[in-house]
Amino acid sequence: ARVVVLVSGSGTNLQALLDAIAADPDGYGARVVAVGADRDGVAGLERAERAGLPTYVCRVKDHPTREAWDEALTEATAAYEPDLVVTAGFMKIVGRAFLARFGGRIVNTHPALLPSFPGAHGVRDALAYGVTVTGCTVHFVDEGVDTGPIIAQGVVEIRDEDDESALHERIKEVERSLLVDVVGRLARDGYRIEGRKVRIP
Ligand code: GRF
Repeated sequence: ARVVVLVSGSGTNLQALLDAIAADPDGYGARVVAVGADRDGVAGLERAERAGLPTYVCRVKDHPTREAWDEALTEATAAYEPDLVVTAGFMKIVGRAFLARFGGRIVNTHPALLPSFPGAHGVRDALAYGVTVTGCTVHFVDEGVDTGPIIAQGVVEIRDEDDESALHERIKEVERSLLVDVVGRLARDGYRIEGRKVRIP
């Protein structure tokens, strides 16, 4: 399966996918064909370039409206003919055009146990709320924010001494292996989305 990954930052989730593919190029079942970002100069793009992958950047401020940005992102992504789009640390909400083109094939990873703590500060919100466990969720993207059908989740204990970055680092260890496992299974085994359930044969 052809995978395009969208990033906004360090790209360690992207790196985990690239490492898994490099370790088993024939067996993994997916290959990253391009990496897109909503901003320049992020480590995720450098990781793609180091892997010899094409990259593209779609910045909201380069477009007159949010819809125009969404359409540009859709076209730039479609050029690589992805079977799956993975948003890993991509800090923008995709819009109508993107969902129309790739809906049902967009996989997102979120650093909390959805439906708890959606949005851009899931780690901080879980810490502030005082939950004793949090974790990460890999899900399909729908028109909401972190609301699509859940594929897999991983639990991470919160420790008394945790601050946001320590906790997020521990979550990302689980998140990276969860994402690698899910993308590989979706690519190899195929899947069906039935309402809120995801069936992987
Ligand atoms: C991940 O934890 C992702 O869930 C969150 O931001 C982090 C991105 O990490 N949205 P990276 O860019 O993949 O290293």
